[in-house]
Amino acid sequence: MMATSLFNPLRLKIPFLFDILFVSDPEHIRQIETSGVVDRMHRYDTASLPWWVKFFFKATKFHDDTRDLWFCPLESTSNPSYSRRRAYLEDKVSIGYSAGDVRKIADLLKANAADEALAYEMVQIVNHRFFEQEVPLPIIRAAKYTLQNLGESIWPWKYRRGRESQQQIMDYCARTLPQGVHILDIGHNIGEVVQATAGALRRLKDNLDTPVEEIFTTHAPTPQVLRIATAASTFDGLLWLPTHAGQTIIILKIGRAAAQTGDILFTFSTGGADRACVFKEFFLNFMKDLQRVLKEQVPT
Ligand code: HEM
Repeated sequence: MMATSLFNPLRLKIPFLFDILFVSDPEHIRQIETSGVVDRMHRYDTASLPWWVKFFFKATKFHDDTRDLWFCPLESTSNPSYSRRRAYLEDKVSIGYSAGDVRKIADLLKANAADEALAYEMVQIVNHRFFEQEVPLPIIRAAKYTLQNLGESIWPWKYRRGRESQQQIMDYCARTLPQGVHILDIGHNIGEVVQATAGALRRLKDNLDTPVEEIFTTHAPTPQVLRIATAASTFDGLLWLPTHAGQTIIILKIGRAAAQTGDILFTFSTGGADRACVFKEFFLNFMKDLQRVLKEQVPT
């Protein structure tokens, strides 16, 4: 069965198999996010989540199924560990970066360095503060292979590699990080930098005269985020059939919303400042400084 409202959102529902709602209209995204009847995925115990969510996420950088850990944005605000985990990350990110860090990346971009060299340096700039040591190259290589979208999980070799890579990264984090630190909150950042930031650096280099906010709303590195319904609702008539608590998964297409609105809050959240990415200011400031340095280096 397939049920949709006239145009948008699009709902794909096969009873007992899956129930997914795709939302790309910026106003619908805001409406659903603030409706009070959706929450983060791990609001429900892992065991009770839809089968495809469990299957997909254990091959991504967002979940460690061996230790049953989920990345911070997948935790409900009501989870007692949430505020402490966010505060720890904010504190570490606020250490910032140096002018030397910016220059190092500018030099690599100027020299057309390989993606791996770029990713290696950027991972150290972001993650040295957590590990107090250089993150080894095999871990950075592994971080390339955790799955980034559901379509990839149909290929058995990609799926297997995604799982093995995630386990390798988590084992490294468990061995290396200080006691008491949430290992997935940190391990995720290695993958995020390898998979999203290295490409973003090249995009910046190709757009030296475009404002940074415009570059990263037109091409938002995170295309979508997921929520789960916590009650039966049609979101004030947006849907024909009500959602099912703990079963309907809502995919908010924030990348499209960012491009449509030019609002940087859709690049780093679902359009509001509440629970926006803790890395947002670091990322934007770093990119602005890098753009300035690259422009200074362009021969006139
Ligand atoms: C270009 C790189 C990045 C992009 C585009 C990005 C994007 C996002 C987005 C869209 C969200 C919202 C997720 C949701 O609502 O479900 C988010 C949340 C978050 N991000 Fe990032 N992120 C990036 C890098 C990072 C890095 C490097 C870190 C850590 C140092 C980080 C830490 C977080 C945290 C902790 C949250 C959860 C905030 C909360 O729920 O309170 N992000 N990020």
